[in-house]
Amino acid sequence: MPYIKIFDTTLRDGEQSPGVALNTKEKVEIARQLARLGVDVIEAGFPIASPGDFEAVRAIASAIDQESDKMVVAGLARANQADIERAAAAVEKAKNPRIHTFIATSPIHMAKKLRLTPDAVLERAIQAVKLAKSLVADVEFSAEDAGRSDPEFLIRIFTEAVKAGATTINIPDTVGYLMPWEYGELVRTIIAQVPNQGVTFSTHCHDDLGCAVINSLAGVQAGATQVECTINGIGERAGNASLEEVVMAIHTRRDFWEHQTGINTRELYRTSRLVASLTGMVVPPNKAIVGDNAFAHESGIHQDGVIKAIETYEIMSAELVGRKAGELVLGKHSGRNAFKQRLKELGYEGLSDEQVNTLFKQFKDLADLKQTITNDDIRALVDAETTKVAETYRLAHLQFQSGTGGMAPQALVRLETPEGVVEATATGSGPVDASYKALRILTPLPLVLESYDLRAIGSGTDALGEVSIRVRSDGQVIHGRAISTDVVHASVLAYVDVLNKLAAGLGRVRVSPQEAATL
Ligand code: KIV
Ligand code: ZN
Repeated sequence: MPYIKIFDTTLRDGEQSPGVALNTKEKVEIARQLARLGVDVIEAGFPIASPGDFEAVRAIASAIDQESDKMVVAGLARANQADIERAAAAVEKAKNPRIHTFIATSPIHMAKKLRLTPDAVLERAIQAVKLAKSLVADVEFSAEDAGRSDPEFLIRIFTEAVKAGATTINIPDTVGYLMPWEYGELVRTIIAQVPNQGVTFSTHCHDDLGCAVINSLAGVQAGATQVECTINGIGERAGNASLEEVVMAIHTRRDFWEHQTGINTRELYRTSRLVASLTGMVVPPNKAIVGDNAFAHESGIHQDGVIKAIETYEIMSAELVGRKAGELVLGKHSGRNAFKQRLKELGYEGLSDEQVNTLFKQFKDLADLKQTITNDDIRALVDAETTKVAETYRLAHLQFQSGTGGMAPQALVRLETPEGVVEATATGSGPVDASYKALRILTPLPLVLESYDLRAIGSGTDALGEVSIRVRSDGQVIHGRAISTDVVHASVLAYVDVLNKLAAGLGRVRVSPQEAATL
């Protein structure tokens, strides 16, 4: 059975989504989950882009080393010495390091962006691959905008890249321009013409015309054995091929595909949730595999069919992708050992005793508020605990009132700050608005709220509410996130999370490879 390597670029191309800015802790948390999911390669970042990106790639390289023996950790580099040496230093601690170097090959990119002749681009590619190969054994070469490049030139540059030591050849449809049959044909031609002894050919498709997943599958059909993709399909502009869709298409249509992947499909939903909550990129309800409605049956005819035989309207089971929601895991009277055991079953092995103690206390507090506690609740508690930052600011007290009949919603917020305890009251269009106005009085920083999202973890009126906000301050983007059974409380905690991240210097100024091309 041909094995398809899954190359996850959520932390690099996905992180280039407008507005997304993950800090190192959050990136490591996602990388750990990607390891549980079983991806073959993690593209951890673009180390030259900023000191923060470099540190994040280094931290992931060390963390993943303890999680998985086989997983490759890749760092992206343009085809120049500084980028490549920086990427090599960033992935140095990984058990299986890869340098992924790229240069644009389409006439428009070469002439207008790089201002180089094709021969000069070819020469740069050769030198880049040679240098990368002198630093690590595993080198990937990408021809940016391959989809709009001359196939003859691609064959030439890929042939030279292989001669110079590239072990993976990546064929990106950078601007999501090609139709599936065109992309498949391009991949087929390249594989047929480029010396391919021991070389992996890879797809990398963007979704500008909604074809990223189908183009990736067309590439696999044409012989590619690596797919580059992201969780929830996040990425530059319209995004990248969605990992969960590619994997489940191959898995569900085993009658058609002879291929297999190493993905543990039962971790897909959890990975999707983690990425959505840490990036603040909300998953649309109708998104295949991981959207809230993907397994919901609304119409009477469908419901009747599903009750009689689930296969009437479901081509894969919700459990297969890890969506067993609402499952009762532990009760109010469960002890510490049972809780610890459940953490282990959920894959949280590396937690310190202190973290387990804190989580156990949070679990007990939650059990007092909520009748049933699910695995999703426990995951939400762990995710919040493992990505939390030092508490420079702390919510000391929150009180609010709202109602109908002309009563103006009002909130009082008391904060512990490095300058002492401060308090403010404000009115607003609702209790969240009133609380945020009070917080603005207390923190006279120039914070602009760019997005606010609220979602329930599980169902029921006592469900945990997860609030995810994106704030811009002085050119930096910061995500705040919090959970509570009270949504106003969760909203205020998410704002306090932003303040703490800013205080810890965790706001991010993002530079993408495309922006960095002009560095
Ligand atoms: O889309 C693209 O071309 C890329 C490259 C950097 C591989 O992301
Ligand atoms: Zn890309």
